[in-house]
Amino acid sequence: MPQDLRNEILEKVKEFYKQELDTKQHTFEEGKNVVPFAGRVYDEDELVKLVDASLDFWLTAGRYAEEFERDFAKYMGTKFCLLTNSGSSANLLALTAFTSPKLGEKCLKPGDEVITVAAGFPTTINPIIQNGLIPVFVDVEIGTYNIKVDELEKAYSEKTKAVMIAHTLGNPFDLDAVMAFTKKHDLYLIEDCCDAVGSTYDGKMVGTFGHASTTSFYPAHHMTMGEGGAILVNNNLYKTLVQSFRDWGRDCFCEPGANDTCGRRFTMQFGSLPQGYDHKYVYSHIGYNLKITDMQAAVGVAQLKKLPGFVESRKKNFNIMHNGLKQFEEYLVLPYATKKSDPSWFGFPITVKVNDKFTKNQIVEYLENHKIMTRQLFAGNITRQPAFKDIKYRQVGTLENTDMIMNNTFFIGVYPGLTERKLNYVLRTFEDFFRGI
Ligand SMILES: Cc1ncc(COP(=O)(O)O)c(C=O)c1O
Repeated sequence: MPQDLRNEILEKVKEFYKQELDTKQHTFEEGKNVVPFAGRVYDEDELVKLVDASLDFWLTAGRYAEEFERDFAKYMGTKFCLLTNSGSSANLLALTAFTSPKLGEKCLKPGDEVITVAAGFPTTINPIIQNGLIPVFVDVEIGTYNIKVDELEKAYSEKTKAVMIAHTLGNPFDLDAVMAFTKKHDLYLIEDCCDAVGSTYDGKMVGTFGHASTTSFYPAHHMTMGEGGAILVNNNLYKTLVQSFRDWGRDCFCEPGANDTCGRRFTMQFGSLPQGYDHKYVYSHIGYNLKITDMQAAVGVAQLKKLPGFVESRKKNFNIMHNGLKQFEEYLVLPYATKKSDPSWFGFPITVKVNDKFTKNQIVEYLENHKIMTRQLFAGNITRQPAFKDIKYRQVGTLENTDMIMNNTFFIGVYPGLTERKLNYVLRTFEDFFRGI
């Protein structure tokens, strides 16, 4: 019986996990094994779901994608979740949706401006450029690493049509101030929650405030599918627009393999196409194909069940790091949560205060030499990256904190794979470093 055979295979997969991957995942010897800044945390459930999906051999988005989209929307508190193949694609789709002519006067047009920050990840900003829009960079605060909200009005011009920013390293930006600004000027707000799944602001999940929000399921993130991402929206029209741009630009919104969901597949008139031209082949946008596979979604289904525990463990690990590093505040700026927020931290950012004892590079090198992984706050100041040499943008002021971040900030991990033993090793390594300065 095929079902029995499937069960037998899945039992073997569990056995494989226990014999091969379980110990690999949990081996740690101080100074020998790396303390990663992030990573996958999984067990046999993920492996079983992955193989189960592959045995279906449906390959494209299917039953697991449907289950994930329903359950993740519920977890995040939005009406819709649309899966895509990465957080970068999610950002591209979220912004591109607002360029749709179906929005009439409210559609974004080339030359319109989008307010963002230069201290961040490139693909929060790239979709602005990819759509012929102009990024306007505002400086950020040291400590929260989020946009300086008192500079929003200075960034505004007649051309401003949207704000697109990330909740940096899981720390929510000041949503009261940003929402007040976007409402006042009738702007779109896109929240990049790729590093902030599970963070709350005023008791409400981030990703539920803006017109659209995005998440990433790359292994470094709060939960993983390998590669993957999602767009979250509450509005039916925005959902259809994201779906259209994701699925080749088509007007039809049938799920893969389905037909005639609208019930009018051969009866409508579009552009100068013949009356009744198959709706499946009507294109209302210049779209992409950024869909996900069901194998990725299946891993996501297993991970989603672990997500609340992951979020708690990130918060706990952050507190352990914070308490342990407090003694070095003479030299280090430690991160703090934005007022009214409860972050599900992605990492633990540290800014080295200007001093005559050591530099950021020296402490980073010391940690790396002791097998503790460090990361930069992504692009540092993105306007200084080679790709931005000939890009048209505006900036407010000198972006001095953004430069400070580029020069003096790095982050280390707080992800759920960091056991107390690993965290204690990290703290002891900091102590050794400071003993030596
Ligand atoms: C804030 C932010 N946005 C977007 C992304 C892109 O996500 P992905 O790697 O899934 O494309 C990242 C990636 O790490 C990120 O940190």
